[in-house]
Amino acid sequence: MNINEIRSRYFKFMKARGHAIIPSAPIVPQNDPTTLFVGSGMQPLIPYLLGKEHPSGSRLVNSQKSFRAEDIEEVGDNRHTTFFEMLGNWSLGDYFKKEQLPWFFEFLTKEIGLNPENLYVTVFIGDEKNNIPRDTESAAIWKEIFAEKGIDAKEVVIGPEADGYRLGMQSGRIFFYDARKNWWSRAGIPENMPAGEPGGPDSEVFYDFGTPHDAKFGSECHPNCDCGRFLEIGNSVFMQYVKLPDKSFALLPKANVDFGGGLERIAAASESNPDVFNIDAFEDTIDLLEHFSKKLYTDSRYTRSFRIIADHIRAATFMLADGVVSSNTERGYVLRRLIRRAAQHAGKLEMQDKDADDSMLVRAATITIEKYKGAYPELGGEEAYQNIRNEIWKEEKQFAHTLERGMKEFEKFAARGRISGPEATMLVTTYGFPYEMTTELAKERGIEVDEESFKVEMIKHREVSRAGSEQKFKGGLADTSEKTTRLHTAHHLALKALQMVLGGHVKQRGSNITQERLRIDFSHGEKMTKEQIAEVERIVNEKINESLPVTRSTLPKEEAEELGAEHEFGAKYPDMVSVYSIGPKNASIENPHFDKAFSIEFCGGPHVSNTSEIALDPSTSLRAKFKILKEEAVAAGIRRIKGVFK
Ligand code: ALA
Repeated sequence: MNINEIRSRYFKFMKARGHAIIPSAPIVPQNDPTTLFVGSGMQPLIPYLLGKEHPSGSRLVNSQKSFRAEDIEEVGDNRHTTFFEMLGNWSLGDYFKKEQLPWFFEFLTKEIGLNPENLYVTVFIGDEKNNIPRDTESAAIWKEIFAEKGIDAKEVVIGPEADGYRLGMQSGRIFFYDARKNWWSRAGIPENMPAGEPGGPDSEVFYDFGTPHDAKFGSECHPNCDCGRFLEIGNSVFMQYVKLPDKSFALLPKANVDFGGGLERIAAASESNPDVFNIDAFEDTIDLLEHFSKKLYTDSRYTRSFRIIADHIRAATFMLADGVVSSNTERGYVLRRLIRRAAQHAGKLEMQDKDADDSMLVRAATITIEKYKGAYPELGGEEAYQNIRNEIWKEEKQFAHTLERGMKEFEKFAARGRISGPEATMLVTTYGFPYEMTTELAKERGIEVDEESFKVEMIKHREVSRAGSEQKFKGGLADTSEKTTRLHTAHHLALKALQMVLGGHVKQRGSNITQERLRIDFSHGEKMTKEQIAEVERIVNEKINESLPVTRSTLPKEEAEELGAEHEFGAKYPDMVSVYSIGPKNASIENPHFDKAFSIEFCGGPHVSNTSEIALDPSTSLRAKFKILKEEAVAAGIRRIKGVFK
């Protein structure tokens, strides 16, 4: 079954069970500084899982564009991808386990046609330390579901994943694992969750491809074994807990369901083929690569390169369509790495097409656009196409240049007859010269690379960068509080002020808020003058001093559009939306006086309730003024400002 069909069947199935279809949020998190990319369907819904009312109701369904950078190195085997679509359905304090588990099972067996004999499930073993009980309720529901299919589902207690390799299947169907496998929160296990973070026990469904166990992974096979026999295809999280500042757990006001299913993996299961790269999502790309390289995907010397190109270019295409621009930091760096790694593997396949106007990677991107633009209109249209094409081209050219520089350095090292660990590390980290290329070239010349020392050096290097990103995660989540909230509201004021000063062509093209500063990317062709910057600052400070009320309203999308409410270029919104308006002075929830508002934006919040609150620094209680620290270009026709309170 192809992905478009599975996606639409899932929507239909959930719609028939009272769910409102909501669009995928952009892959770049909006007003959420805690992660670089959206990595699961629930992420854009955090405020609602914590109890806020969602404008579309308490039953939601969508397919979310997701990206997990931590899987980049895994891509190349038969099941890892960096980008994927996560089918999601949510109960916001509505239904719970006894609806969710049978529905997903019914969807898999009736709609997709999977054989129940091939399905295995896992549930949470419980956590005494944190006072969270074993999920016997889900186990009992599963037992009944399987019994209806004539399957006697035996329960087996595993505990930590490592024990699975010792204990094995034991003819089980329902497996109890510990929190590392059957607890879900954005931060992972209960111990790693910061205060205020929601999470809960989960229940996963695995598809058994029946491939023989590979003892390389451990003596016995079990559902969470990495040998490839089992593939996890869906996860129902019973998100009912929140971590408290004293590190204990409390029940959320309402118990939620957060379900996520891998669309590509379900498609692979529907074909009984454990290779996710065999599904239709990648078919045309792989055909194209075969055609132009005159090499076969099934030739084991090249399979990995085919997969890496197909995955990375699909991911890069979606990122570019959502406004990511390649650079040396954060999101831009991830995009750069994807394109360069794809380029490196394109080099391995040795493309044979000498007279093509476009590079192979650009063609692969074009195929991705064709495949997905129906479901994701942000990929369609001439402007999106030109942007994607130009960015990939540019990056490929720069990479070729980098390789040249790296080659020169390599030659210097190689002349000494051996490449040391620190040298190989420097080639990777300073010159972007892939380690694989170092080893290949060294082999050709019959010289040695000190791999042991390289590994040690790289671990040191990674630890330094990881420490940085962990801090980022902690910093962001620990303080979603006043500091960022006031910057959210200042962001609305600043966008409006930019439009007043520069003109109506100014549209938001990206945004990012941390505790320290706000950042707005917006369409504008020229550098702002000193006077323009001063005028924007003046307007923002004036509106803060006017103490304007900030009002949230929920209304139909069309109505909000007619009001001229600002929204980010290219973003998609559900039928009912939430908008925030700032001013006039007599605005209230009952009567927002939109016609006299200073600013109206599509936005989920959070915001202060009056602009006067913005001026007060929550940590010092001193009054501060809005100031633009930086104004710069980020791409052709797109400028960026960073603003702070000082
Ligand atoms: N949020 C859950 C996951 O990502 C569904 O697995």
